[in-house]
Amino acid sequence: MLNVNGLNAGYGDILVVRDLAMEVREGELVSLVGVNGAGKTTLLKTISGLVKARSGIVEFMGERITNLEPHQIVARGLVQVPEGRKLFPRLSVLENLEMGAYPRAAKPNKKANLEKVFHLFPDLKTKIRQSAGTLSGGQQQMLAIARGIMANPRLLILDEPSIGLSPLLTQIMFDTIRQIKEQGVTVLLVEQNVHHALGMADRGYVLEQGQVVLHGGGRALLSNEHLKKAYLGM
Ligand SMILES: Nc1ncnc2c1ncn2[C@@H]1O[C@H](COP(=O)(O)OP(=O)(O)OP(=O)(O)O)[C@@H](O)[C@H]1O
Ligand SMILES: [Mg+2]
Repeated sequence: MLNVNGLNAGYGDILVVRDLAMEVREGELVSLVGVNGAGKTTLLKTISGLVKARSGIVEFMGERITNLEPHQIVARGLVQVPEGRKLFPRLSVLENLEMGAYPRAAKPNKKANLEKVFHLFPDLKTKIRQSAGTLSGGQQQMLAIARGIMANPRLLILDEPSIGLSPLLTQIMFDTIRQIKEQGVTVLLVEQNVHHALGMADRGYVLEQGQVVLHGGGRALLSNEHLKKAYLGM
């Protein structure tokens, strides 16, 4: 579904993503892990067209999408929920959700997607008139994902959804991501919570200094010696 090859990207003179190759197959949940500054967000932004690729290829559904405009990429069903939520704090929960449904392909499915969202996040349904800025951190993160679902994704990309959440909410967040996958949405998950993210992933990639240093089955990676030492303190 998503195929990245020989990708190089960065900012100004600095190359952050270096000769990177990875793929996500339809129906998979793939986790991408790495420490702060490894280049995870830069990779996601390059896939979504927010950062321009210097060279290399990004293919989605068999079509080359490298350096298309972000709205053209969203229109194809590749939807990214950014790090740090980026909600409209003064708008209501419902208005934020409606903003998510702006891609043309999402409009006819708006009602069905709203139902889907309220099923996944029953808490949000009771708060549709409340302004987004008054929600708790956990609820705001849920709303950010819900807004992504309103865009009718084929591939949903989540950038550190558990950041800042309590252990209980983190657990709920990961359960919800699993449900989203079970409903047929392919998921690319970026996380610093290595244990959770790889434990539930079909496959995983470990990013260090903008390069893939390890990849394999999610659970298999968790028993890899380098990963255990460097990421799990074992
Ligand atoms: N807009 C920018 N301009 C210049 N350099 C940037 C910019 N954004 C990120 N960087 C640099 O690129 C490198 C990779 O950052 P990136 O945000 O992609 O890492 P990350 O793996 O997502 O980290 P985190 O886990 O903290 O979110 C870092 O050295 C960072 O300082
Ligand atoms: Mg990041």
